[in-house]
Amino acid sequence: NKKLKIAIDGPAGAGKSTVAKLVADKLSYIYIDTGAMYRALTYKALSSNSDLHNGSMLQSLLKETNIELEITGDGQAVILDGRDVSKEIRSSEVTNNVSFVATPQEVREEMVRRQQELASEGGVVMDGRDIGTHVMPDAELKVFLIASVEERAKRRYDENTSKGHETDLEKLKEEISLRDKRDSEREFAPLKKADDAIELDTTSMSIQDVVNEILHLVSERA
Ligand code: C5P
Repeated sequence: NKKLKIAIDGPAGAGKSTVAKLVADKLSYIYIDTGAMYRALTYKALSSNSDLHNGSMLQSLLKETNIELEITGDGQAVILDGRDVSKEIRSSEVTNNVSFVATPQEVREEMVRRQQELASEGGVVMDGRDIGTHVMPDAELKVFLIASVEERAKRRYDENTSKGHETDLEKLKEEISLRDKRDSEREFAPLKKADDAIELDTTSMSIQDVVNEILHLVSERA
């Protein structure tokens, strides 16, 4: 079977990483979470009190930063300069600032270079915002996952609750909308459906339905 490149893009909380992980497992492909790379840089920038709006400074910071995505028993670990920051990069401070760090073109170009290197052999499922448009424009399958903001906030709320974290549904809705707005309105490589991507509205689909639909699309192409 041909080893495909699969791009999964979409707004925050649409289930990209959950679905991408399951699809990659099923196909024995590698899964690359590009959001985790932007989150790791954001965590480092916040920890060193860097100016999150200074592109050339963030670029220099990134150049001296090592980010590894490691496969573990229960998913993926994110290793920043040798240290496991998998938990830290999911904090609300990182989540609410990552769009700023992901804005400057200098930062994105270096991230895209690293992501393209990871994908060069094919047999990858990569999720993010600009995978179909910039990172893997040659992907054989591009999926754009969407869901209503109410549904996405509710999923995040349920996930938090199940982990014992209390959150406010309305606040989650606001944060998700704001992050989408920043990601969609940035000038360079905004969140945007590629012309040749297949849009899947997952609002009333189960995770397994979405995975099966993507596997079906893969089987048509492999
Ligand atoms: O996917 P996740 O929600 O973890 O992504 C975090 C943030 O990283 C996004 O809101 C966006 O600002 C940025 N990002 C990006 N391009 C990607 C992946 C993520 O700009 N390919």
